[in-house]
Parts: sequence; C-alpha cells; structure tokens
Amino acid sequence: LTAYLNGRFAPLGDLSVPVLDRGFLFGDGVYEMIPVYSRKPFRLDPHLERLAASLAAIRIANPHTQAEWRRIIETLVRHQPFDDQSIYLQVTRGVAYPRNHAFPAEATPTVFLLADPLRTPLPAQVVSGIAAVTQADVRWLRCDIKAISLLANVLARQGAVDAGVAETVLLRDGLLIEGSASNIFVVRDGMLLAPPPSHLMLTGITYDLVLELAARHGMPHQVREITEAELRSADEIWLTSSSKEVLAIVTLDGTPVGNGAPGPIYKAMYQHYQAFKT
Ligand code: PDD
Repeated sequence: LTAYLNGRFAPLGDLSVPVLDRGFLFGDGVYEMIPVYSRKPFRLDPHLERLAASLAAIRIANPHTQAEWRRIIETLVRHQPFDDQSIYLQVTRGVAYPRNHAFPAEATPTVFLLADPLRTPLPAQVVSGIAAVTQADVRWLRCDIKAISLLANVLARQGAVDAGVAETVLLRDGLLIEGSASNIFVVRDGMLLAPPPSHLMLTGITYDLVLELAARHGMPHQVREITEAELRSADEIWLTSSSKEVLAIVTLDGTPVGNGAPGPIYKAMYQHYQAFKT
C-alpha cells in the first residue's frame, strides 16, 4: 500500500485518476514533498501549513484538517517496509466537464499521496559537492505557491541534465532567486546570505530550518537580496531541499566556487543539520 487516493490506501498500480482531472488538463493543483526519517515525518507542521497556504492562494478549500492530514500521512508511513521515506502529497481542483479554464461550479478536490524510499544525496555528493549552471528565471510571479504546474522548473532542471550537472540556479533581474527545485544560499566573507522570501521564490521548509540552525549555532547570517555578481564571486554556494538536505555547489557555469570544494561553513551546517535530524 504505497499510495493513497481520495480516501483509499492501495498499491500505486491500482490507482488512477480520470483524464478530466484539472491537474491533468490545467496543472490546477498544489503539492508538498515531506521527508520521513526513521518513520517520523520531518517538520510536518510547517509542510502542512505551507500546503494550507498554497491551497488558499489558488482558492481550493482545504479538504482535510491538519489532524486528518497527519493521520493519513502516519497511516501511509506505517504501511511502508522502509524507515526513511519521501511522501509526495498532491491536491488538485478535481474532475470537471466540459473543459473550461474558470473554476467549475462544483468539484471535489483530488487528493493523492505516494510513499517512496527517501533518496538523500550520495556520500560522494556530500563530500565533493555538486556542479550547477545558471539560467534566466522565466517563471510567473507567484513562485511562492507550491503549484504542480512546473513547466518552467522542468525545463530549467533539464537544462542542468543537458549540461551534465545537478541543478540550475535561477536569476531574475540580476538577482539570485532559487534553484529549479531547491533554495540557494551564499557565503561571503564568513557571512551566510539567503535571498529574502517573496512571491518570486518558494520559501523552503529546509530554507527556514537552515536559517534556524544558523541562529541557534551563532553563525553570522543575513537575509537580503543577493546580486548575480555576489553569487559569482561567492566563497561558498549551497543548495537546500527536503530531499537534498544541504549540498555544496562547487562549480557554477564551469567556474569553481571558492577553492572548488565544500567550504568550512558548509561542513559546519551539514553537521548541524544531521544532528538536528536525529
Ligand atoms: N522541491 N524551491 C523550489 C522551486 C522547490 O521545488 C523546492 C522543493 C524548494 C525547497 O523546498 P523544501 O525545502 O520545502 O523542500 C525550493 C521539492 C523537493 C520537489 O519539487 O519535489
């Protein structure tokens, strides 16, 4: 029973969604990806709060209370044979006919969850870091909504794959925004810098946690706009997400970042993060 659809737990292969679902036709829905360590959903409340905010932003009534969401997720987690999991959760506006961009008068949201083994970064990626490229951010102006309409993110990530690297860093109007599916931090002169939350980026649950850990451990940090020039001359660049945790970007557009290896502040944060997880 690796999945859940509209009230029913079942093997993934037994589940299907009608072709008239607005998620399929319009990308009309939102999602979350929640990591589970040792069968405990990690930072679940913030994920459920962000889900509620995404649903409100696209005017879908939240189909469940926080307590109901928690019960569904805990039941799904219990059914898996593995301890570390990633829970994908998606809500769409539901099935409607005829096809019409505007909201249907009546539709029941489609709720889908899928459990997979959690794939955290390979040890080699933690030790050696990863490479990234940059691209212009061509997305819309509400990237704070965790929407399933991800065409621009898909093209950005494929740009990384085509370049033989792990992630694409997005720049808009000369400023660092985020990655195709991650947030980006920069270290300059011992100061950890994070771009400020806005409608132009998704505020990651991991982003919030990294800033929390920086505060807790007395690491100098600042949330402020970061220019492309500051990114390109950074001592360290990191990427964060629920599945990637914290990874050092050691090459940007083929140029080494700092001395081309994960830096000391990265290593400290990685340790803090691992310690916090357990
Ligand atoms: N993506 N920015 C974007 C555009 C993202 O897609 C993600 C995560 C993040 C990091 O958010 P968090 O720390 O809450 O995972 C930032 C998830 C992992 C995904 O698309 O599967």
